[in-house]
Amino acid sequence: MRTIAIMNNKGGVGKTVTAINLADILVHDYHKRVVLVDCDGQMNLTRFYQPEFDPEQRGGCQSFGQR
Ligand SMILES: Nc1ncnc2c1ncn2[C@@H]1O[C@H](COP(=O)(O)OP(=O)(O)O)[C@@H](O)[C@H]1O
Ligand SMILES: [Mg+2]
Repeated sequence: MRTIAIMNNKGGVGKTVTAINLADILVHDYHKRVVLVDCDGQMNLTRFYQPEFDPEQRGGCQSFGQR
């Protein structure tokens, strides 16, 4: 298993977009199984896959998505 971390202290530099597109390419072009772990307090990655997600009801880093 390979672990890829996309991290940068600066906001708005493309971390979330990179994670989404990289996962999509790995799944659809390379037929890999991918687990995305959203450790960003903004939780935009989680909201992208689960627009109904309510952080008031469930804390972060509990929702694991796999495609
Ligand atoms: N390579 C790119 N080309 C054009 N726009 C981009 C690119 N990467 C990210 N963006 C845009 O920049 C904005 C911030 O990207 P985002 O992934 O949310 O940043 P971060 O997660 O680092 O805060 C978004 O509107 C996104 O669509
Ligand atoms: Mg982000």
